[in-house]
Amino acid sequence: MMNVKYLYVYTIGCQMNVYDSEMFGRVLRPMGYIPAETLEDADLIIVNTCSVRKKAEEKAFSFLGRLQSMKLKNPELVVAIGGCVAQQEGANIVSRMPWVDIVFGTRAVGRLPDIIKRFEESGTRVIDVTMDPVQIEALPPKDLDTPSPVSTFVTIMRGCDNFCSYCIVPYVRGRETSRSPENIIREIEALVERGTREVTLLGQNVNSYGLKEGICSFPDLLRQVNGIKNLERIRFATSHPKDLSDDLIRTYAELEKLCNHIHLPVQSGSDRLLERMNRKYTRAIYIERIEKLRTARQNMAVTSDMIVGFPGETDEDFDMTLELIKTIGYDGLFAFKYSDRPHAPAVDFPDKVPEDVKKNRLEKLLKLEKSLSQMRNDAYLGRVEPILVDGRSKKIGETGLREWAGRTSSNKVVNFNVPDAMISNDIMGKIVEVRIEQCRPHSLKGTWVKTL
Ligand code: 5AD
Ligand code: SF4
Repeated sequence: MMNVKYLYVYTIGCQMNVYDSEMFGRVLRPMGYIPAETLEDADLIIVNTCSVRKKAEEKAFSFLGRLQSMKLKNPELVVAIGGCVAQQEGANIVSRMPWVDIVFGTRAVGRLPDIIKRFEESGTRVIDVTMDPVQIEALPPKDLDTPSPVSTFVTIMRGCDNFCSYCIVPYVRGRETSRSPENIIREIEALVERGTREVTLLGQNVNSYGLKEGICSFPDLLRQVNGIKNLERIRFATSHPKDLSDDLIRTYAELEKLCNHIHLPVQSGSDRLLERMNRKYTRAIYIERIEKLRTARQNMAVTSDMIVGFPGETDEDFDMTLELIKTIGYDGLFAFKYSDRPHAPAVDFPDKVPEDVKKNRLEKLLKLEKSLSQMRNDAYLGRVEPILVDGRSKKIGETGLREWAGRTSSNKVVNFNVPDAMISNDIMGKIVEVRIEQCRPHSLKGTWVKTL
């Protein structure tokens, strides 16, 4: 019999890292690894890292630092680091933190069982940060006995060819490479068979999916995914505005499973900055794309990423960003202070914005974001919305009833009560109608009306 060993994965960063971390669990299962309940129980700890902003990188190093004393107490413990920081730093990590046993890069997910085996057999440190061979299809069959989450991610491509001037991603994740549509469909079908109802298709720029390989366009992939039986909802992230085609906009009119939301990062409202960021669209093009989307789908929820304090950003540039935010009327924003990243050309740009100015601008932007999101959410008051139920809170709500949670098609989080007497069966993974009774800037509250 194989020895049972415990695996703990600590994930920092984007949804793609979340997907990869799930994959680590799956590829290591056949080697006897099962999830550890706590860090202390683990035989193998994998830290899956992000380097998109300096703060994320610091988080990885501070977590790895904590592992030093654990390793001293338990020399058998294996410590591995994967993801973008691992890719970027490679062997430097072990000279800085000699208690790290394994360093593996962003393209090594499929090789992970091999890497762990090599370490177990030799006991000597393994560092694998090669970008080749491009191995993005290494998908083990899903465990037949493991249920899949109601809502989950599926990576459809890796890497990025856009080279936005502030961004480290093209350097740590390599060139854009798409998975084959057959493989993606097979994976989603397997997930759906085990309970998944909603998938979010992931890529740094899903709009250019398959173009380089000439295999299948992103809108055509969406059409195929829409045909999967028992799948209820489709989402995707992230889209680059420059590649948002009319064909993709058409899919919003065509495909009933495609959710009523798009995350379309604009980064700035100033054309001068957009050019310096190498984004390859203008403010006017962005607005025009959103208008088209809203014609294809009424009430489309739109969210975005914003960078404040990019080198050379003046008060006027920043005001243009605030103006754009009001013009679009976003449902939510992720906003970040610009941070210098290795390799990214903006490191050498003049006119760096002082930290206190960045901080002020971020606060101002977030205040506007909150009031706009509140306004967008207020429109839901009294409406009955279909919600995909993906969670149940342990606590009993104010009304003495148990609270459940899910999302609207527009991606709003909804917490709601279900009178226990009125339902006898589990509603996890079901679509239910909920009457919205309270609207907050980042969530809604309501009461169950019926299960569809
Ligand atoms: N500084 C600040 N924010 C950044 N992002 C990417 N690189 C940087 C950087 N150097 C933000 C962008 C991107 C999101 C994932 O992270 O807004 O869309
Ligand atoms: Fe970075 Fe730009 Fe690629 Fe997004 S599109 S990952 S911001 S280089």
